[in-house]
Amino acid sequence: MDRIAIIGGAQLNGTIPVSGAKNSAIKLMAASLLTDEPLRLTNMPRLADTRFLGKLLTRLGVQVTESDGPDGQQTLLHAPEITSGFAPYDLVRQMRASFNVLGPLVARSGQAKVSLPGGCTIGARPVDLHLQAIEALGAKIDLHEGYVYAQAPRGLKGAEIRFPFVSVGATEHAMLAAVLADGVSVIHNAACEPELVDLQECLNAMGAKVEGAGTPTVTITGVPRLHGATHAVIPDRIEMGTYAVAAAMAGGEVRLSNARPGLIDALLDKLKEAGASVEETADGCIIRRNGQRLTAVDIETAPFPGFATDLQAQFMALMTTAKGESRIRETIFENRFMHAPELMRLGADISVSGGEARVRGVDQLEGAQVMATDLRASVSLVIAGLVARGETTVSRIYHLDRGFERLEEKLGACGAQVRRIKGDGEAEL
Ligand code: EPZ
Repeated sequence: MDRIAIIGGAQLNGTIPVSGAKNSAIKLMAASLLTDEPLRLTNMPRLADTRFLGKLLTRLGVQVTESDGPDGQQTLLHAPEITSGFAPYDLVRQMRASFNVLGPLVARSGQAKVSLPGGCTIGARPVDLHLQAIEALGAKIDLHEGYVYAQAPRGLKGAEIRFPFVSVGATEHAMLAAVLADGVSVIHNAACEPELVDLQECLNAMGAKVEGAGTPTVTITGVPRLHGATHAVIPDRIEMGTYAVAAAMAGGEVRLSNARPGLIDALLDKLKEAGASVEETADGCIIRRNGQRLTAVDIETAPFPGFATDLQAQFMALMTTAKGESRIRETIFENRFMHAPELMRLGADISVSGGEARVRGVDQLEGAQVMATDLRASVSLVIAGLVARGETTVSRIYHLDRGFERLEEKLGACGAQVRRIKGDGEAEL
């Protein structure tokens, strides 16, 4: 298995182009099931997760073609007909968001058999709200031997869907299912994340009638059919935030380009509070830190526009060398501190109690062997490695490859000493 090795101490100086958002791309790819015409997605990230989903969609009847042209990385998805409504455990287990094919399959062909995704290292992550939404739209749902059997032979019907709390995945799933329903659907207490707005724009480009994404109430007026479209995936705010934290950690000056301002204000405010300089630009921001040590600040994760849970691990890494004590509260997932013991292997001083971690900044981290436990945890270890004395090696980086495109190349271009070690063999630059 590949590992990443980092030699700490180099400042970061340069430009990092932000890729298309993983968490948007995989929902947009699922939208291709809703039409018999081609959907062309541009600004597509090339990641293990997009490959996983491509594999599942191919089994369901979607022709998936990737190309790299003058307009960048694209994926063409074309489902002239749905050849199977079956999403097996092996594929859904590997990537939970695969579960979101359920709604589009039922909407387009009236039936689906999709594996329940099971738990995950960051929390139990049930899908009850997803099922509540698809059921409200008139599908008959049965759970049997780990599978969801959904049927709506006469099509889905518009409905009022009230979520008891905010769920990004369930809101997206409800939107994907309701666009072909007969009548109007209203989603109350919808998630407001930018990826929802991206999904609305893509669905509307395909002929859907969706309004209100980005607010707590989304209204969908069902249409009988959708058509093909071309849509550019929104920039990845979590990747942007991750490199912003990396720059603040290592020091130097990094310009993040191809991004969109306004998507990570909660993080940028905390970086400023900690002492980094942040300058917003037309297509991203410039992060600077020259010399002075950062000050500890507290964070609490929250749904958008609050501090993103997907940036919590990275921020914890940043706080390990800040001056003072930082309190980090995780409110979205019940077990999202798996990176803390690994950061402690690098010399960090952290104590975790329930949903709160206390990080007391140390003067210097020391390089060590550490292990990635999930996607964002793994990149937090790379960030810590940027300032740790000597060499840090991060194993199990298949987690990292799920969501960060060409990470070594992007950091390396700014002067970081980061290399991938293939298998158990020799290091490769
Ligand atoms: C999305 O997960 C993202 N994943 C996550 O990013 C992100 O952390 C999360 O939203 C919150 O922003 C993708 O987009 C693929 P939720 P999702 O439904 O949709 C509970 C990453 O690293 N819940 O908003 O699964 C759930 O357990 C990943 O890229 C239910 O109880 O998140 C959690 O505690 C990790 N029942 C809370 O709601 C349900 O039916 C919020 O989860 C659904 C969710």
